Amino acid sequence: MTLIERVRLRQVLDSRGNATVEADVLTESGGFGRAAAPSGASTGEYEAIELEPGEAIASAREHAVPRLEGTVYVGDQRDVDRTLRVADGTDDFSEIGANSAVAISMAAAKAASDVLGAPLYQHLGGAFRGENFPIPLGNVIGGGEHAADATAIQEFLAVPVGAPSVQDAVFANAAVHQEVADILDDRGISAAKGDEGAWAPSIDDDEAFEVMEEAVSTVADEFGFDVLFGLDVAGAELYEDGEYHYRDETRSTDEQIDYVAELVDEYDLVYVEDPLDENDYDGFAELTDRVGDRTLICGDDLFVTNVERLSEGIERGAGNSILIKPNQIGTLSDAFDAVELAVENGYDPVISHRSGETEDTTIAHLAVATDAPFIKTGAVGGERTAKLNELIRIEQNVTRL
Ligand code: PGA
Ligand code: ZN
Repeated sequence: MTLIERVRLRQVLDSRGNATVEADVLTESGGFGRAAAPSGASTGEYEAIELEPGEAIASAREHAVPRLEGTVYVGDQRDVDRTLRVADGTDDFSEIGANSAVAISMAAAKAASDVLGAPLYQHLGGAFRGENFPIPLGNVIGGGEHAADATAIQEFLAVPVGAPSVQDAVFANAAVHQEVADILDDRGISAAKGDEGAWAPSIDDDEAFEVMEEAVSTVADEFGFDVLFGLDVAGAELYEDGEYHYRDETRSTDEQIDYVAELVDEYDLVYVEDPLDENDYDGFAELTDRVGDRTLICGDDLFVTNVERLSEGIERGAGNSILIKPNQIGTLSDAFDAVELAVENGYDPVISHRSGETEDTTIAHLAVATDAPFIKTGAVGGERTAKLNELIRIEQNVTRL
């Protein structure tokens, strides 16, 4: 493998029009990789620290870049990521910023794949990578922190569980997105789009459930395979002073557990992310005990892609799935460790975008490399379709169709 020769950092736009960190990694042999950090809006309390991009770049240039250039081999991803951690010197990347760290980590992996002449999923997954493809979870109705005056539940996600291929699944999710627009139109409800491209109508959650039920069943009939749906409740955003605050009502923790358990059965939900607050391992455990045999209870803000928090969850029986967002923890190696620990303990990993995204496609490769059963990366919109279309290309590449 070849040494990193140069690391360049700059600010580019993300999908919300905010600045984010982009990294280029160039190798001595002429290899090149480029990646950009995404950014959350409904961020977990325990995530690695995202610095203001200018600050993150200045600090990474001072502390991390000199340790990488001319010293570290790009193919040794663990060494790249260890070097970033040592350069940072904190537990949460608060010195160089998780945004600088993750951009450099991903750019180095891409440079290595360029040097190898192998696609990124192959470089990351190795020769014995599985042959499965992730089912995409498509956000089609949303509110919470991603849109004002819309649903209290943050995301209603189409899940094409019966799709025979990634390509069919991606098209089914886009069709559900379109069907939702048609149903809203029939009901005389106008809707703008939220940060992830989901429709953000000013309706209550009950109506959103009705619309979803109708939309997925129409698309399932049209496509000839099962399309179900799921949720990201983003419970931590609803939780204040010991209660969950919805539009017109509040629920205690026990009521919240009952409510979500009833929703799972009433709507045949296949996926529920962050049903409870990010500190409530016990609540997660109770809900998992009740419905975990028939749905995924996924920890996003609960686990923040962190092996220590996941270990605690495993011990306490909290959840049966983990959301994996590389920028929540700062490096690809850390994200891989979280996936590995999850899989060893029967937790399904779901590789995920953030609400603020760029055209970067790394997570599509990460999902295939880790053989993850699910990927959550929106349904429509350029920064979302960048990943979805990349998955379609990877599928064609692997299946040689
Ligand atoms: P975020 O939201 O990227 O704004 O944190 C996504 C999620 O909660 O899954
Ligand atoms: Zn979430």
